[in-house]
Amino acid sequence: MTTYDARFRVWRGDAEGGGLRDFTVEVHDGEVVLDIVHRLQATQASDLAVRWNCKAGKCGSCSAEINGRPRLMCMTRMSVFERDETVTITPLRAFPVIRDLVTDVSFNYAKAREVPAFVPPPGVAAGAYRMQQVDVERSQEFRKCIECFLCQDTCHVVRDHEENKAAFAGPRFLMRVAELDMHPLDAAADAGLDRKRTAQEEHGLGYCNITKCCTEVCPEGIKITDNALIPLKERAVDRKYDPLVWLGNKIRRRSADDPR
Ligand code: SF4
Ligand code: SF4
Ligand code: FES
Repeated sequence: MTTYDARFRVWRGDAEGGGLRDFTVEVHDGEVVLDIVHRLQATQASDLAVRWNCKAGKCGSCSAEINGRPRLMCMTRMSVFERDETVTITPLRAFPVIRDLVTDVSFNYAKAREVPAFVPPPGVAAGAYRMQQVDVERSQEFRKCIECFLCQDTCHVVRDHEENKAAFAGPRFLMRVAELDMHPLDAAADAGLDRKRTAQEEHGLGYCNITKCCTEVCPEGIKITDNALIPLKERAVDRKYDPLVWLGNKIRRRSADDPR
């Protein structure tokens, strides 16, 4: 087994402020960045705060920025860096720091709660739902999400614009809206819920200018932009400009104005 000493720069601090600190840490063959953070804790900085759980790329807790790119620390091999390169580890930039590498990601939980749940189809018992395999596969791609929030962190709409957070759900939750809107058994429309309208008016779909940065950082390889956001935008536009939908809305509005 070969070992070498590598230079690391790690952000240390809390909500009041902080800065980058330099460390030299031993690296062994086959290790990932999270191994190094653990060795740093064990040997030089026992109070370094870091969030992790599975060390297998499945819990979504160890998200951080490594050399400025949002990544999972447990899935980033040290072999992707040159041995003489300084590896800089900083907390997710879009969320408030609690301490060191741990951020407060509660923005995401608040946005999750704002998306209305699946509406079961009336008259069909749970367990008797039937749908085409192609529809199953479409939503299964989105179901691979491990809620690491790397896509939320990288999206420029909120990354540098705290003021946009109130109006924008972010790629992970717009993807959830898209998944439900594509679901052939979702009975939201029958219940008076127009998911395309809420995507635009309540979840900020219009802020997304399909840069695909969210897709690039997704550790599950979900094609967030191509398979969720663009189709949702297309359906939202169809809803707005389809003459039949326009006429239907107009008649509904007129009936609401005139109770006779
Ligand atoms: S594609 Fe849309 S949601 Fe994804 S990073 Fe770009 S602006 Fe954000
Ligand atoms: S869509 Fe991908 S990047 Fe976004 S939270 Fe889910 S797994 Fe993470
Ligand atoms: S520790 Fe679970 S995804 Fe990295």
